[in-house]
Amino acid sequence: MQARADQLRRSGKTTAFVPTMGYLHEGHLSLLRIGKQKADDLVLSIFVNPTQFGPNEDLSSYPRSLQDDLDKAEKEGVDAVFVPTDQALYQEGYQTYVQLEKLPQHLCGLSRPVFFRGVTTVVTQLFNIVKPHVAIFGEKDFQQLAIIRQMVRDLKFAIEIVGAPIVREADGLAMSSRNAYLKEYMRPAALSLSQVLQNSRKMVQDGIVDAQLITDRALDIFSAFPEIKVDYISICDPESLDPVESVEGRTLMALAVALEKIRLIDNTILQP
Ligand code: PAF
Repeated sequence: MQARADQLRRSGKTTAFVPTMGYLHEGHLSLLRIGKQKADDLVLSIFVNPTQFGPNEDLSSYPRSLQDDLDKAEKEGVDAVFVPTDQALYQEGYQTYVQLEKLPQHLCGLSRPVFFRGVTTVVTQLFNIVKPHVAIFGEKDFQQLAIIRQMVRDLKFAIEIVGAPIVREADGLAMSSRNAYLKEYMRPAALSLSQVLQNSRKMVQDGIVDAQLITDRALDIFSAFPEIKVDYISICDPESLDPVESVEGRTLMALAVALEKIRLIDNTILQP
C-alpha cells in the first residue's frame, strides 16, 4: 500500500481515503461518492480495529461481510481496498498509541474509555500506510470527526479531513452497521433518537433555547421506552464539546443510548 501510494504521488495523482470497519451501508457509500469527487484515486480500508473495543464490547460479534463489501466497493469505483490483518497493524511487541487529552473526555469517551485512543491510533497508522491527500468521515460519529480534525491539526498531517452528513433510513433511523443487531420489534424504540433530535430542533425554532428544558423533554420521550437506557444527552459546543447552558449559536445535540445492549448514537446541529 505504501509503495502504491508513493508511485501514485510520483505520477502527480491525488488519493482520497475512506477508512471503515466494513459491513458497508448507504452511509459508507456516501463517503465513497464524496471521495470519488475529491481525488484521482479512491482507497477504502476495512478493518475491525481491536484496540477501539473495550473488554465487554462487541468485537467478536461485530457484523462482517467482506465479499458483499468488496462488491459494493467495486460498484462505487473504488480503486483499492485495504484489508489488513490484526497482525499487520499490531505486530508482536506493538506499543505505540495516539491519545488526545481533552476531546475524548466527553460524550462517548466517558462510557468507552479506550475507544478514541484506539481510533486515533489506527487512523494514524492507516494515514501513514495509505498516504491520502483527503480522508472522509461521517458526521454520525461527530466526536470521532472532531477528534480526527484535532489530531490532524496537532500532528501536522498534510491531509484534508472532510465530514459527510448523516444518512438516514426512510423512517429517520441513522444508518449504522450496528443496526444489523436490531430486531423488528425494537424499531419504535430505535426511532426515538431521531424523534428526540427532531423535537429538539423544533423547540429551538420555537424559541426554547434552555439546554435543561430541551434535555428534560428528551428524557420524557425516552421514558416511553423502558428498554432504552440513556447513556448521555449532550447539548454542547460543536468544537470543544463542552456543555452549554443555552443554545445561542451553532450547537451540537448528541445522544447515546443502549437498547437491549445495542449501542445507538445520533446527533444534530441546533441553530436558533
Ligand atoms: O468509524 C469507523 O468505522 C472507525 O472508528 C474507523 C474510523 C474506521 C477507525 O477504526
